[in-house]
Amino acid sequence: MARSTDELKRLAAERAALFLEGVRVLGLGTGSTAAHFVEVVGEMVQAGDLEDMVAIPTSVATEKQAHELGITITDLESHPQVDLTVDGADEVSHDLDLIKGLGGALTREKIVASASRELIIVADDSKMVTALGEKSPLPVEVMPFGWKTVALKLQNLGAEPDLRCKGGKPFKTDQGNYIFDCMFAAGITEPDAIGKLIDSIPGVVAQGMFLGMADRVIIASEGGARVLERS
Ligand code: 5RP
Repeated sequence: MARSTDELKRLAAERAALFLEGVRVLGLGTGSTAAHFVEVVGEMVQAGDLEDMVAIPTSVATEKQAHELGITITDLESHPQVDLTVDGADEVSHDLDLIKGLGGALTREKIVASASRELIIVADDSKMVTALGEKSPLPVEVMPFGWKTVALKLQNLGAEPDLRCKGGKPFKTDQGNYIFDCMFAAGITEPDAIGKLIDSIPGVVAQGMFLGMADRVIIASEGGARVLERS
């Protein structure tokens, strides 16, 4: 019988746990795949492993899950450098560039990833794309102040910004900001250039392209989990 997507996510998470040896400060990602990894870490902690390890969650939701599982939580103030972060992604290109943020935690995820000596992404094979923006919109976190002005500037860059809503109201991130999910009719042809232009718009907090940041991506498929490494 074919494995469910959930089983594939767990498979990727279990494979990522093999990289935990020697890790003292661990970044914990956000989303359903990252949640499987947090669960695996929780099981290891409960079994008496990972005694000296502390974790930095990338969202309120992950912090809650980690806390409930008995994982020792810290923050970037106490540990500004992270040994390893394991997180999910919405899209993974063959160069291991990513789109992240459909789970709404892109800003904290980017900060924690940038603080990390190593970033491992866990995903099922539905996340692989030939070019970023193929399947997923690009999430852009913006301050509520002036959000319509930011929308116009995103449109000028070729994006179709869609304000993310929940229960009929703008979705708010853990920082109290809004998110635009941006489709690009012409595709994201030059990710680096467009990323820098979006980052330079006043009011933009972060955009969801993680370029050159992932060291390894663990992709789970029917055939098992394979590890892709940045060349
Ligand atoms: C949250 C993220 C998630 O890692 C991304 O959305 C993937 O989530 P999932 O594993 O549920 O598909 O970037 O901000």
